[in-house]
Amino acid sequence: MKWPSHGSNPQYLFKAMGLRLPEDYLDFSANINPLGPPSCLQENWNELYRHITVYPDPYAAKLKTKIAGKEQIPLDSILIGNGGAELITLIARMLAGKKVLLIQPTFSEYEEALSANNCEILYEQLTEPDFTIRLPNLFSKLRQADALIFCNPNNPTGVKYSESTVISIIEECDRQNKIVIIDEAFYDFLIEYESMIPHISKFSNLILIRSMTKMYSIPGVRLGYLVATPSIIHKLSRLQSHWSVNTIALFAGEWCLEDEDFIHNTKYFIRNERDRLSQFFQQYQYIVSNSMVNFYLLRDSLLEDQFALFEFLLKKRIIPRHTFNFPGLEGRWLRFAIKSYEENTRLMEVLAEWRSFHH
Ligand SMILES: Cc1ncc(COP(=O)(O)O)c(C=O)c1O
Repeated sequence: MKWPSHGSNPQYLFKAMGLRLPEDYLDFSANINPLGPPSCLQENWNELYRHITVYPDPYAAKLKTKIAGKEQIPLDSILIGNGGAELITLIARMLAGKKVLLIQPTFSEYEEALSANNCEILYEQLTEPDFTIRLPNLFSKLRQADALIFCNPNNPTGVKYSESTVISIIEECDRQNKIVIIDEAFYDFLIEYESMIPHISKFSNLILIRSMTKMYSIPGVRLGYLVATPSIIHKLSRLQSHWSVNTIALFAGEWCLEDEDFIHNTKYFIRNERDRLSQFFQQYQYIVSNSMVNFYLLRDSLLEDQFALFEFLLKKRIIPRHTFNFPGLEGRWLRFAIKSYEENTRLMEVLAEWRSFHH
């Protein structure tokens, strides 16, 4: 069976399963803010129409200035991208032909972009159920690589690595003269987060990726940014196509960054829902990853293979993210986004029903 390599667009999952996509369903497979986009986007949406007749600012000057102010960094340390995904592609182009170490299971796009650029890929495998990094193993594998890419907090586990772990990795990469790329696509869902951005000025080998599509619920608009030293920004921007970030995305980004309350409300909503779900999972003998963000891995502790549960959920019109293409998970877990109160409640009802048949 050819499984879709990403969440969202459930029509492809149903096709792979030989099923017809129902008219209404609950899609838990994409990790997008359940509160929807900030209200400023809807309020100002009509204003965007008059901007589509001009080319977008290729330097994204206004948006960059906002990000620079928020993160306290120079403008020339920022590159705006058509989603984090474009920035990953640019990094893979920059690393073409090199040996790159990945900490997996992780976002599948790193491997896809690197293989398309003839990189040799090395792996450090995290083990279930804690999915934490063992530094000695990682550091010894690092010797054979030119660069390391990892995601913090990690997708699909939702696990956040400690500040001291991340700093040790950056320092070791510096000692071994390797480039280190940290994808912080979900950092803004964490209540406590130690940003690695201040370390950019100390480490010329450090690249950070940020996505704006998850928190602001704009995956259809596409927006992200990357932070690194000016010389890396220069190299990457030469690999980017001109005008790759459209005018709507640039405006949307500027407006979204203004709304600090939105992020605060999202974080606490997600934390409360995660706590509510955790209590249920414990009571009903489901195992979950130690997620600190807006998605988590789940398995029925009474099943080795989760396929029967996966099928049951699809029949109930609940769509989890399969994990067949995550090495180290191979379908033994299912990933769920944290959605609205009502949607999470529905998920719990269906999982309680499953448990009533399988105990
Ligand atoms: C870890 C991670 N990084 C980057 C991305 C790309 O995000 P976008 O291109 O929507 O900004 C995703 C999307 O799922 C992701 O999970």
